[in-house]
Amino acid sequence: MIEFSGVHYAYPGGEPLLKGISLRIADGEHVGLVGSNGSGKSTLAKLTNGLLLPTQGKVFVDGLDTASAHDLAAIRQRVGMVFQNPDNQIVGSIVEDDVAFGPENLGLETAEIQRRVEWALSHTGLRGLERRSPMALSGGQKQRLAVAGVLAMQPSHIVLDEATAMLDPDGRRELLEVARDLRRVHGIAVLQITHLLEELLAADRVVALDRGQVVFDGPRGQFFDDPKLLDRLGLEPPVLMTLYAELKRYGLVGRLETPTLEALVSAVTAGAGLAGEGA
Ligand SMILES: Nc1ncnc2c1ncn2[C@@H]1O[C@H](COP(=O)(O)OP(=O)(O)OP(=O)(O)O)[C@@H](O)[C@H]1O
Ligand SMILES: [Mg+2]
Repeated sequence: MIEFSGVHYAYPGGEPLLKGISLRIADGEHVGLVGSNGSGKSTLAKLTNGLLLPTQGKVFVDGLDTASAHDLAAIRQRVGMVFQNPDNQIVGSIVEDDVAFGPENLGLETAEIQRRVEWALSHTGLRGLERRSPMALSGGQKQRLAVAGVLAMQPSHIVLDEATAMLDPDGRRELLEVARDLRRVHGIAVLQITHLLEELLAADRVVALDRGQVVFDGPRGQFFDDPKLLDRLGLEPPVLMTLYAELKRYGLVGRLETPTLEALVSAVTAGAGLAGEGA
């Protein structure tokens, strides 16, 4: 679990940026973090694993205080982080060395390192590319490589800070699938930062930041049901959610847990007696 308790943060010489953030990310939970540009999302991300320390308040990871230098290595092993720019996260000259870098620094045995590298590459769809230069990978593959490097550390949490921002639609979709599986298959808690709300369909919960404070913290469905909040945050509702709201308004679909396109189409076609027809 990651816990923020009354966290304030200001960069040296800067204005207060985060003002009294209290927040918990439970084990295995998938939380989306949104907010306008400059609202402090990346700063919050860096506070989760001690890259930054609160100017006031505390951050704990599985009970370990990020301000305790003694616990920092254990905290960094537990909270993996993937940033926006794939090129800034490459450390090895071939794919398998890149993934092995973290486990090697943990001082693990060669066989265990090898096992983790294979495991991490297979769960990110990168098997077969072991001997490739990371520089020769696509943007999406590079980001999955960054996730593999984090996975090889066997973290309990992963923070994705706009990790899809520089990817094309295919790369984005593949990374989101990997992100969804982190929780579903591996039980890893995910903190997913994005300004694209359609990327939050795998999140259980949404946290919204505005002017340094948490202005919403609740179930994803409730967040999308509040157009005024989205407006205030300067965020566009996903097209799919707008469609869902309209179909609901006309009584064409009922309440859906996860309004995917497939679910909407099947609800509408079933209602119109078209099930099984067409595409
Ligand atoms: N290293 C730094 N030193 C001083 N100020 C900084 C530093 N990093 C960020 N800031 C400032 O802190 C504020 C919040 O930045 P942060 O990157 O946390 O926001 P964000 O919500 O991630 O924004 P974006 O949506 O653009 O990624 C911004 O005004 C930014 O200029
Ligand atoms: Mg940011």
